[in-house]
Amino acid sequence: MMGVTNQKAIRELISESAIDARIKELAEEITRDFEGQDIAVVCLLKGAVMFMSRLVARIALDCTIDFIDISSYHDGTISSGELKINRMLDTSLAGKHVLLIEDIIDTGHTLSYVHDYLKSQRPTKLKLCMLLDKPERRIVNTITPDYVGFVIPNEFVVGFGLDYNQKYRNLPFIGVLDPDQL
Ligand code: IMP
Ligand code: MG
Repeated sequence: MMGVTNQKAIRELISESAIDARIKELAEEITRDFEGQDIAVVCLLKGAVMFMSRLVARIALDCTIDFIDISSYHDGTISSGELKINRMLDTSLAGKHVLLIEDIIDTGHTLSYVHDYLKSQRPTKLKLCMLLDKPERRIVNTITPDYVGFVIPNEFVVGFGLDYNQKYRNLPFIGVLDPDQL
């Protein structure tokens, strides 16, 4: 792992090439599902930025891109379920074909909140795309993602957008972090 100081704290779980291959498949599926429509992409900051940018580059339809900045309060690797909203959308989603892109669904609090907010904007279509799904941790079960890159075990992961205290987002792969080794 070139350039990463704490090599023993991070164990690779999903390689860069596996992520690339899966993104290509997801983009093809999304392109088929939205055929003939322009897509209003909504990306959740900051964790989903890397996934979103790679994914939209492979979607063969016109996309607009907007951002929501929302974070769950964290105590180390444990999410509290309490949400902090820093930024909502620039544009209305009324009558649009919307694709929400998020890094991970964990307890489900974030996705459930954002889903209800997006629905309240009356889009014609709303699909939810997650890079990762950690189903063992689910507390809010009301929302099911339409597209999932990888289902992962109940471990704290970093890389490809995901952070631990804002660090490791730029790793090109996804790895399990052992905070005790930091
Ligand atoms: P949820 O609201 O509990 O589903 O949490 C979703 C948010 O928690 C994600 O947007 C991530 O920012 C963060 N999160 C959950 N699990 C992990 C993880 O394993 N690594 C890094 N961030 C995570
Ligand atoms: Mg996040």
